[in-house]
Amino acid sequence: MADDPIWRTLRAEAVAVMGRAYAPYSHYRVGAAAAVDDGRIVTGCNVENAAHGVTLCAECGVVSALASSGGGRLTHFVCVGGKGGLVMPCGRCRQLLWEHGGASLLVATPRGIRTMSDVLPDAFDSEDLREAEQ
Ligand code: THU
Repeated sequence: MADDPIWRTLRAEAVAVMGRAYAPYSHYRVGAAAAVDDGRIVTGCNVENAAHGVTLCAECGVVSALASSGGGRLTHFVCVGGKGGLVMPCGRCRQLLWEHGGASLLVATPRGIRTMSDVLPDAFDSEDLREAEQ
């Protein structure tokens, strides 16, 4: 799994987009890249704001790029910080990723390649909404 060449490609894309992060407040630059089930690659960087709470994480850019370039399901995801090291997606962004990749989305983490169901156990999703309708 870890020797799949997609990881090297995604890491290079994430490092490249990290260089375009807008992080004048935290100075913590983040880049993220993901593979889509049709072979596309989508990327995003963090975009901060003077009103700190409305900052967009790099993962927000990824899911926006996914939708605006045609949708689909995310299969592999990589997030890096300013020195190129792997970064764990924050809790909110794990929820965003779950929506578009589900339990089987593979995430490169500092502790190895893991599934979304491992990094976001018992996730809330559309199934829970359906249950509430019954
Ligand atoms: N950040 C991300 O872009 N993704 C994450 O998963 C964690 C945090 C950004 C948000 C903010 O611009 C900076 O990192 C410091 O929190």
